[in-house]
Amino acid sequence: MNYVVGNWKMNLLRSAAIDLVEKLNALGAASDGEVTVVVCPPYTAIDAVISVANSTHIKVGSQNCHHQSSGAFTGEVSAEMLVDLGCSYVIVGHSERRRDMHETDALIGVKAAAASRAGLRPIICVGEQLEERTAGRTQDIITEQLDGIIASATPEVVASSLIAYEPVWAIGTGLAASPEQAQEVHAWIRQHLATSGVQTHVPLLYGGSVTANNAAELFSCKDIDGALVGGASLKPQEFSTIVKAAHGSGQ
Ligand code: PGA
Repeated sequence: MNYVVGNWKMNLLRSAAIDLVEKLNALGAASDGEVTVVVCPPYTAIDAVISVANSTHIKVGSQNCHHQSSGAFTGEVSAEMLVDLGCSYVIVGHSERRRDMHETDALIGVKAAAASRAGLRPIICVGEQLEERTAGRTQDIITEQLDGIIASATPEVVASSLIAYEPVWAIGTGLAASPEQAQEVHAWIRQHLATSGVQTHVPLLYGGSVTANNAAELFSCKDIDGALVGGASLKPQEFSTIVKAAHGSGQ
């Protein structure tokens, strides 16, 4: 199974969000036996998107959740609330939240655990900064992130999640990792999970400037099981081309 997940970030008012999901469905950018398609709208549009997506095979996720199920956490949204809306996935640990909200691996792990307990499938993000790659530290950074997340989430939670490798330097820059660069890290993630008590085949998504032009080549890599798509997920034609590329890529 391949996965194509759209991360809409802080974009789209409800009417535009409904319009996008309707267009995606009309273009056939929906789940089937081979590919799972998920869109992650901002909180304010989730309900509206679900009202349309319910009659399609497009699944809906959130871009974040809190790690507690309820309580005195002003402005926060719990995984239970997202399940109540009809979400089935949640992105945790996106690099924009690591950067802006100072999310740590330990926090990302407890969010994944809370999401999983509530019935959401976590999409856990990891990725190195440009300076870290340049210094030859990519593998160390990814290992450190995975270890921190596994320690707080438990190997069982990670085993039931998806992991997105998103090099920070590739996000929103138009400078995607090459298939070789992405495959190298994915192969390492796969190997490291296996030696860290994560016993299942965890789908590994690549994210960072995925477009209609580079998707097929990325999907053809052995350890790439899909994509987490930002900018291109707001363009119905382009996103549906990425979904098509996920078909028949043999993974
Ligand atoms: P991008 O974003 O596709 O616009 O690079 C990816 C992401 O942040 O998930």
